[in-house]
This record gives sequence, structure tokens and C-alpha cells, in this order.
Amino acid sequence: MNTDLAKSIKAKFKDTHNTDPLMVFSPGRINIIGEHTDYNDGFVFPAAVNKGIIAALSKSDSDKSTVYASDFDETIKFSVNNIAPLPKESWGNYILGVIAEINKKGKTVGNFNMVFGGDIPSGSGMSSSAALENSVVLGLNELFDLGLTKTEMIFISQKAEHNYVGVNCGIMDQYASMFGVKNHALLLDCRSIEAKPFEINFKDHELMLINTNVKHSLSDSAYNDRRAVCEKISEMLDIKALRDASEDDLFEIKNKVSDEDYQKALFVIQENERAEKASKAMLDGNLEELGKLIYGSHDGLQNQYKVSCDELDFLVEQTKLNKHILGARMMGGGFGGCTINLIEKNEVKAFKLFISEAYKNKFNKDCSIYSVELSDGTHKIN
Ligand code: GLA
Repeated sequence: MNTDLAKSIKAKFKDTHNTDPLMVFSPGRINIIGEHTDYNDGFVFPAAVNKGIIAALSKSDSDKSTVYASDFDETIKFSVNNIAPLPKESWGNYILGVIAEINKKGKTVGNFNMVFGGDIPSGSGMSSSAALENSVVLGLNELFDLGLTKTEMIFISQKAEHNYVGVNCGIMDQYASMFGVKNHALLLDCRSIEAKPFEINFKDHELMLINTNVKHSLSDSAYNDRRAVCEKISEMLDIKALRDASEDDLFEIKNKVSDEDYQKALFVIQENERAEKASKAMLDGNLEELGKLIYGSHDGLQNQYKVSCDELDFLVEQTKLNKHILGARMMGGGFGGCTINLIEKNEVKAFKLFISEAYKNKFNKDCSIYSVELSDGTHKIN
């Protein structure tokens, strides 16, 4: 966690509201493998990182709430008794959505003040949105003694995203951010909402992120469209979710669906298998196999699920020319954001130089490179 950021958020809060706040850190996440499987009741393999949202909150003694976003230098004011969605794209919807969902559960929050900021680059595919939602729900749970469990809290965050932000996301991001375990990734079964922690400590390799610094504006509708395709095909197969289908089951209805939709459903079935195989490869310490699965994931996301973009594909292609990199793929919802790379520790420095220059030459803009440190989930800080 960025302690300087925490200090400045706290100082800003005290300056504005003259009282000591409750401080919360809520992490972003990476995902090793298992993309677009969460809303198909499948497996994902995420981990919380040491970058995220820092929020300062306290009860308000007036009949208004104020929330200040330090990254945008913007404030919203509202009363918790009277909230409605803001225009699309407004960061305020992540906050208001959480309050609306808490209200729906018949819990009562009072007015509050909040200041927050973060160090996850927005649009990087590291889930700054889930981190923000979780910071709000955990903060309000503490301030107003709501008695919500962490599992209830992540479903509140997810519903906020569905109903106020308009993205019909799965549960991976909110789960990873809330339940992260330091130095571990979590193999999460998105049906049972049970996870198995895996220590991430590869001897000679590490995980590295490369941000394309691209954010495609159409990604929300493209995401919802894909989810709808998965649901339509599940219905045709008379199953609850694509997690329950095999490739053979899908083949039975091949003539009844378009080739595009067929490939999308096939991707989900195969990606779900890859996530399970990846956990086995990790247990066996077989990083070559893990790397192959990661490349397979990108190939499917690019060619079958069609959620990649030229910049992501370029970054992945470049790694294939380097034998010190075992696997690379786009990470998160897609259409921009980061690739995740399984790279030899000794190669990191040289590859950083190489890829920065190659990317700049190709796209005339910079990529950003982050090393990964795995952190605990959303929690109070001092
Ligand atoms: C976004 C969503 C997640 C998940 C990923 C794709 O991050 O919020 O629920 O579906 O995309 O794996």
C-alpha cells in the first residue's frame, strides 16, 4: 500500500472535516487465468495487489453527505435518503450504487463524509472500480455497525456495478479485492464462492504487468453483450451456466447458433478448463505448462471471445520471441488495459527496455510496466 497516499488522503480529510477519519485500504487485483468465466459460474485465479483505493470516512453531523475524489478534484454532495444514479461515466455511481444496495437490504446508513484516492491506473484492467465499491461498503459497515459479512459486502458491491454503473460484471473483482491474501492467488469457484489460496513464489520467475494505456469506451456494452450470449446458450442447453457444459454438449447445438456465438461459448468452456489445469500446473511446479495455458487464454480471448485489441496482441506477440517469457495474455474485461506476463526474474530489466521501445515505435505512445506484489484484501488501516 502507498503510505504517502494514505497520509495525504488523511490530511485532506482532516483539513476539510476537522475530525479523525476511519481509514480503509481496498486493493485492485490481477488475474492469472480464468477470464470471462466468473459470470458463467466457473473458475478464476485472481489475487489482490498492493495498489488500490485509500478512503477516509466519518459520520456527517449534517443532513448531507460529501464525497471528494482527490484524483479528479471533484466533490459530490447528496443525502443518503434520497439518491439516484448520476450520468453514466460518473465515479459517483460507484458510491451511490453501494448505498442503494445497502438500503435494499433493509440496513440503514446515516450521512457521511469521505475523501478517497488511488494508485491503480484507471482502465488498466486491475479493477479500481471494485476496489472503490469495497472501500465504501466496508467503511459504511464499520461506521454504521451494519453487521454485514464480507460475502454480503461483495454482493452489494457487485450489484452496485450492475444497477448504478451498468456493467453486468461477475464476482471475481469484488471477491479478490475483499478476500485477497498476502503473497497468494485465489483459485475461486464462482458458483460456490469458495476459494483455495496458492502461495505465489516462483523461484526464478515473476509476474509482470504491461499496461497498453488504452481504454476503449465501448467496452461496457461489449461486455454485457458477451454475457448475454453466454446466458442465451446456457438456456438453449438447458443448464444453469456454461460451467455445466462440455465441448460435446455445445457441439450438439452447433447448427442452431451462429459461428460467432459458438466460438464464444467454446472459449468459456475451454477457459474454465484452463483455469483448473493452471492450478494443477502450479501445484506441480510446472511453470512451462502454466505459461502455455496463459498463452492459450490470450489466443481464445483474441480470436474466439474477441475482447482484445491491437496493442494487447502486439505485447503478447513480442513475448513469444523471447524464450525467457513462459506466457503472456491480456487481463481483465479486455479492449485495453494490461497484459500479465510470466517472466524470468533475470530477464525483467532487459525486456522492459526492449518492449518499451518496441511499443513506442509501433503505436507512438508509451506503455507502462508494473511489478506485482500481492496483498491482503480490503481492510482498515491506521
Ligand atoms: C471484468 C469483470 C469481471 C470479469 C472480468 C473478465 O473485470 O468485472 O467480473 O468478468 O472482466 O474476466
